Amino acid sequence: MTNTLENKRILIVGGGRGIGAHIARRAEQSGAEVVIATRDGAGGTRIDVLDEVSIAAAAQDIGPLDHVVTTASAHHDVAVTELRQDGIADALGAKVTGALLLAKHFAPQVRPGGSFLLFSGIVGWKPAAGTVVKGVANGALEYVAAHLAVELAPLRVNAIAPGIVDSGTWDRLGDERKAALLQGAAESGLVGRHGTVDDIADAALWLLGAGYVTGELIHVDGGARHR
Ligand SMILES: NC(=O)c1ccc[n+]([C@@H]2O[C@H](COP(=O)([O-])OP(=O)(O)OC[C@H]3O[C@@H](n4cnc5c(N)ncnc54)[C@H](OP(=O)(O)O)[C@@H]3O)[C@@H](O)[C@H]2O)c1
Repeated sequence: MTNTLENKRILIVGGGRGIGAHIARRAEQSGAEVVIATRDGAGGTRIDVLDEVSIAAAAQDIGPLDHVVTTASAHHDVAVTELRQDGIADALGAKVTGALLLAKHFAPQVRPGGSFLLFSGIVGWKPAAGTVVKGVANGALEYVAAHLAVELAPLRVNAIAPGIVDSGTWDRLGDERKAALLQGAAESGLVGRHGTVDDIADAALWLLGAGYVTGELIHVDGGARHR
């Protein structure tokens, strides 16, 4: 297989942990130079997608790139009657506004043949109580990818909608609830298991190199939304 990421320069916003960190490792193994941006800047680059100034400053500092990946996500998983305006704003800000602002500041830095890769999620296609904010944010990413793909062409813009993946993010539920979530995900999908960070990294690395794919949202969910 051609190593399409050799010598490519990739910014991964949210690359400090979870799916973003795994994509960073896999991209480096594929020969890419990876720049990791986190909210606290511990990895060297600071980007808080809720803070446009931090995005603009990073775009100036980092210089030319081939790909920009963002996994940034803020959780506000509560019942409708418990919704908070700031929680909604942060969740939509991390995924939707954040993607738009990253495009605004980084598109001029992306070299010809490059791309943006955004992260949506299964919840956008499986409405359930307590997930309305995440569902709406994830759904919106499909439109963000399509619209940006048109406006930024010939740069490519795509999104991945993962199913339930054991990325570390579910550790916050505690052992028992996390195990139940992962088991439920395995039972409700079509392939009999929950997702892994490698499943998502496989798709991400493919999309970064897939020069004839743009404006698409790819579901990597073991078929879960078909049940
Ligand atoms: N894991 C799953 O089962 C699953 C399922 C469906 C969709 N997804 C999507 O896949 C993506 C990655 O998920 P994940 O499981 O790795 O973890 P996650 O907990 O959903 O992702 C959080 C990531 O977003 C970063 N982040 C949060 N707010 C930010 C902000 N304002 N600016 C910049 N970065 C910010 C976090 O960085 P800090 O370290 O600074 O907090 C962390 O790296 C997310 O978009 C998620 O919605 C995941």
